[in-house]
Amino acid sequence: MQSAIQRAAAHVAALSHHNPFPGIYALQQRIGRRIQQRFGGNESLDAPLSALRFIDAKILREHARLYGDPACTELRAALAEAEGFHPSDIRVDSGADAVLALCLRALCVPGDAVVCSAGTYPTFSYFARAAGCEVFERPYRHHAGAIQADLDALIECAILRKAKVVYLANPDNPTGTWHSAEDIDTLCSHLPEYCTLLLDEAYLDFCPPLRQDRARVRQGCIRIRSLSKAYALAGLRVGYALADQDMLAQLDKVRIHYAVGGLAQYLARTVVSDPREAADLRAGNARWQEELARRLAAQGHRVLPSGTNFVSVLMPDAGAALQAQQQLLAQGIAIHRPEHPAFANLLRITACEDAFRDELFSALGGQIR
Ligand SMILES: Cc1ncc(COP(=O)(O)O)c(C=O)c1O
Repeated sequence: MQSAIQRAAAHVAALSHHNPFPGIYALQQRIGRRIQQRFGGNESLDAPLSALRFIDAKILREHARLYGDPACTELRAALAEAEGFHPSDIRVDSGADAVLALCLRALCVPGDAVVCSAGTYPTFSYFARAAGCEVFERPYRHHAGAIQADLDALIECAILRKAKVVYLANPDNPTGTWHSAEDIDTLCSHLPEYCTLLLDEAYLDFCPPLRQDRARVRQGCIRIRSLSKAYALAGLRVGYALADQDMLAQLDKVRIHYAVGGLAQYLARTVVSDPREAADLRAGNARWQEELARRLAAQGHRVLPSGTNFVSVLMPDAGAALQAQQQLLAQGIAIHRPEHPAFANLLRITACEDAFRDELFSALGGQIR
C-alpha cells in the first residue's frame, strides 16, 4: 500500500512549504485569545457597504439554491461600466489569489522558472512552487527613501533563467511603493517573448496615478485585480484578469467555471454598480492612510511611501518589529509582519479609522530609531 506522499505528484510530494496566510482563526487558536482588531489583512474596514443594506432574502435564497453563471456575465458588465474596459476583456475568478493560480496553471509546467522580488506578496511564490516551478527572487532596490522592485534585475533574471513568468505587484505589498505605467510598458517590452508579466494590481485603485491607466490591455501581460480592497469585498472572494483575447482563451481552458458563486456575483454586482461607494472608500482611505503615516513619522519612524490602503513602517531590526507585533497581539490587535527575511523588520498596518489607537502608537513608539 503506497503512502499519500508516494501517491502525490512528485513536485507536490517534494514540497515542504506552508500556507503563508493561515488566517485570523488559526492565529486566534495559536495565541489562545480573540483578535478584536484586525489591522493585518488590508481589508477595507471602514466601508459601510450601503449598497447591500436592503438585499432581499428571497434573492439570497434563490442564489444559494442555484448554480451561478460561469461566465459572470452581469458582473463583468458592471465592472466594465465602472472601470472603462470592455466586458470581454476580463475573466472573473474567486479573488486575485485564484487568478494568480489560474495564470500559473495556464502558463507553466513543473520545472519552469518564474521570477519575482525577494519579499513581495508571498502567495505568488507559494502557488508557483505548488505548480512545480522554480522561483528566482531578486532583491528590491533601496532608493530615495523608498524600497522598489528592481525592474532591471527582474528582466535580467527572466532572460538568464528563461523564465515563463515575472510577477510584479504594483503597487507592491508589503512595501506600498509603485512604478509608473510607463515603467511597466518598458518592463513588458524588455521581457523575452515567451515570458508573461503577471501584474498584480490588487491595490491599484488606491494609487491615483495608476488608476488613470487601469483599463488598458497590454500584450504579454495579465493585469490582476481584486474586489477585496477598493470594493471592500474580501469575504466574497472575487477578482479578475484583464488581458488580450488570445491569453484569455488560454485561461478559459483551465478556469474552474463555477468558482464564483451566484450569490457572490450578485452581491459584487450590486456594490460595483454604485460608483459613489467606491469613490467614498478611496477618499476615506487616502485620508486615514496619510494621517496614519504622518502620526507614525512624527513618532520618529521610517514610514515607506504607499499607494495602497496600508502603511508600512521599518523598525530598527527584526527583534523590535517582533516585539511590537507581539505586544499588540497580547492586547487582541493584529498587525502584519512579513515572514520573508528581507522584511523581518517591517510592520504593515491597515489604514482605517480604528487604527488610531493608543495601544498601537505606544507599542511602536517604544521602538523609535
Ligand atoms: C498584492 C496582493 N495580491 C492579491 C491579494 C489577494 O486578493 P484577493 O483577496 O482578491 O484574493 C492581496 C491581499 O492582501 C495582495 O496584497
